[in-house]
Amino acid sequence: MGAKPAITLQEVIDLLPDMTKNPVRLHDLELLLKKYRVKYELTGNRVGYYTLYGLKKRISQYRTGLKPYNTTPGRMAADARIGKKNGGNTTDRHKDLQKMIADVLRKNLDKQVISVDQLSDRFDAPVSIVRDAVNDIAAGGGNIYINERGFIIHTKDIRPMNVMVMDGRRYPKLPQDAAGWYRFGAIGDNHLASKYSRLDILNDIYDRYQAEGIRVVFNTGNWVDGDARFNKHDLEVHGIDAQLNYMLDHYPQRPGITTYFIAGDDHEGWWTQREGINVGQYLMQLAERRGRTDLVFIGYMEQFAVIPARDGKGKTSIHVMHPGGGSAYAISYTVQKIVEAYSEGEKPDMLLAGHYHKADYTVARGVHCFQTACTQDQTPFMRKKRLKAVLGGWIIEFQTHENGAISRVKSEFLNYYNREFYQKWHHRS
Ligand SMILES: [Fe+2]
Repeated sequence: MGAKPAITLQEVIDLLPDMTKNPVRLHDLELLLKKYRVKYELTGNRVGYYTLYGLKKRISQYRTGLKPYNTTPGRMAADARIGKKNGGNTTDRHKDLQKMIADVLRKNLDKQVISVDQLSDRFDAPVSIVRDAVNDIAAGGGNIYINERGFIIHTKDIRPMNVMVMDGRRYPKLPQDAAGWYRFGAIGDNHLASKYSRLDILNDIYDRYQAEGIRVVFNTGNWVDGDARFNKHDLEVHGIDAQLNYMLDHYPQRPGITTYFIAGDDHEGWWTQREGINVGQYLMQLAERRGRTDLVFIGYMEQFAVIPARDGKGKTSIHVMHPGGGSAYAISYTVQKIVEAYSEGEKPDMLLAGHYHKADYTVARGVHCFQTACTQDQTPFMRKKRLKAVLGGWIIEFQTHENGAISRVKSEFLNYYNREFYQKWHHRS
């Protein structure tokens, strides 16, 4: 089983001082260490185990010419890997260290919370490298951050974002015409990367938005189809990066129009649920890297867009939401239940709800509820469940009283239709 080491452990210890002069012996030594390490691990011989770490550290030192790290287990493993990978260049070593810390973080953070200092001690690495490792995961969409007390928090729960105040500071004012009508577009459930997604319709809706002078569009989530066991056959591309890049290639971009989107907890949200990736944040990062600033992430599952009222005290709030659960027999029933569940303080003036792939406008408890329809044909799954897909998008206008309460609402539904069902099933591969 494997090559037999040509020397004993005692001989190794005797030879250590001139090991560097003898690369053959060095190789033997490594084989020997491997053998003893396995043995010591199996028998739980801690003294033997740590003797080996000492030896390994010295080998690493000889190989790389670098000052060795502390003899902690993590550190030794690091030394061995780093020593093998490069000749000891400091930048590379730091990069390797950063990668290794990031790997440890990815594997363990769901189970335990660790601080930057603890990790820095454990790896004998500068704090800046630990921070870089955290930033690296965040740059890849990881839902990870360092809190104010220096703990690294990684969670599949996405932190709620600050309320979206449309006062011209962080977010622009909601456009209003001379007669006082506020105006915006509302869509959702585009399911890009699905074979059933209707890019033609989505583009047509944006063309109309542009022609109508719309500048703000709210998207209620499910902008991509995501990956699951049961949608594999329905996808144009697979995997988070492929789908998000596909989205950035295909999601309409029109001069002057900004799309403020939430992420659903299903479809794109499956990556959040499974891997703890803040997918909306990640999409926005990828978009910005491409110079697309027209896609702005505003929240996971929901966000309240708030328009300050003229009296300086009140507000109009629009709840942008991707609810869950199945459709009900009556189309408006699901949003009525959402409205019933609002506590007095949080009840918005308007609700924009995705998820159900239905178009609807209903007023419940004084909340103007819109279901934002979809731009995806009925899928085999929906057909099986006898769920109808309503294709289209909204142009919504409203006026308010001094205190922000909505006084008038006008809405226009841009309506489209499924591709001919038989054509889809018999003539598409
Ligand atoms: Fe959806």
